[in-house]
Amino acid sequence: MLHLTSRFVFCALLASVYASCPPRCECSEAAHTVKCVSKDLRSIPKIPGYTRNLFITGNQISRIGPESFRGLDNVTTLSLSNNRISEMEFHTFSGLFRLRSLDLSNNQLTVIHPEAFSNVSQSLRELNLSRALYNYSSVMDLAASLQRISMANLQVLDLSDNSLIYLPSPKFCRVSIKQFIFEMSNCAVI
Ligand SMILES: *[C@@H]1O[C@H](CO)[C@@H](O)[C@H](O)[C@H]1NC(C)=O
Ligand SMILES: *[C@@H]1O[C@H](CO)[C@@H](O)[C@H](O)[C@H]1NC(C)=O
Ligand SMILES: *[C@@H]1O[C@H](CO)[C@@H](O)[C@H](O)[C@H]1NC(C)=O
Ligand SMILES: *[C@@H]1O[C@H](CO)[C@@H](O)[C@H](O)[C@H]1NC(C)=O
Repeated sequence: MLHLTSRFVFCALLASVYASCPPRCECSEAAHTVKCVSKDLRSIPKIPGYTRNLFITGNQISRIGPESFRGLDNVTTLSLSNNRISEMEFHTFSGLFRLRSLDLSNNQLTVIHPEAFSNVSQSLRELNLSRALYNYSSVMDLAASLQRISMANLQVLDLSDNSLIYLPSPKFCRVSIKQFIFEMSNCAVI
């Protein structure tokens, strides 16, 4: 009996730790929303599993990888804008298989692993890379990752303000994107 009770207490503790709001963030379980805005965070904190809308914006995050978003299978909206993300590793978003909207605007991407977007390619509707591609390396990486997977349901791809002077891949013109925001591009796709 004692054993069962302590096991229960342990599980309850574990559950509350798992669901607790990370330091320096604001959480609303009712709204399924977690916001960690302009708090000088350097890595992605442990986010509660109920989260559907996750905003980690205006921080100092520089790299994200497969451990960053583990166990967050209900997240549909993720904004990481205004960080210093320079590297997206293999399967960074793989745990987020309900992800519909991903905002990476205002970052400094130099390395995008070709499988960074694996597992979210079918669910993703909106990808914002405005002012996010640091140099030619990241443009080539992005082209490679888009070539590898079919972003069949992507409706909005924002590549504005990256000073891109050419299209890295004809595939950019072929995807069925309803709203294509691409400054200085030579393909007029709507
Ligand atoms: C995701 O949402 C479902 C339905 O609301 C819930 O049963 C499940 O526990 C949630 N997942 C996590 C990791 O909390
Ligand atoms: C990719 O998604 C499948 C289910 O759709 C899952 O079994 C697998 O673990 C995911 N991969 C990663 C690396 O999370
Ligand atoms: C992408 O992000 C930029 C900067 O945060 C914003 O101005 C723009 O409206 C976003 N694009 C879309 C399509 O929402
Ligand atoms: C892009 O920037 C990174 C980091 O500064 C550098 O290592 C890489 O060589 C650059 N790539 C190009 C094509 O300039």
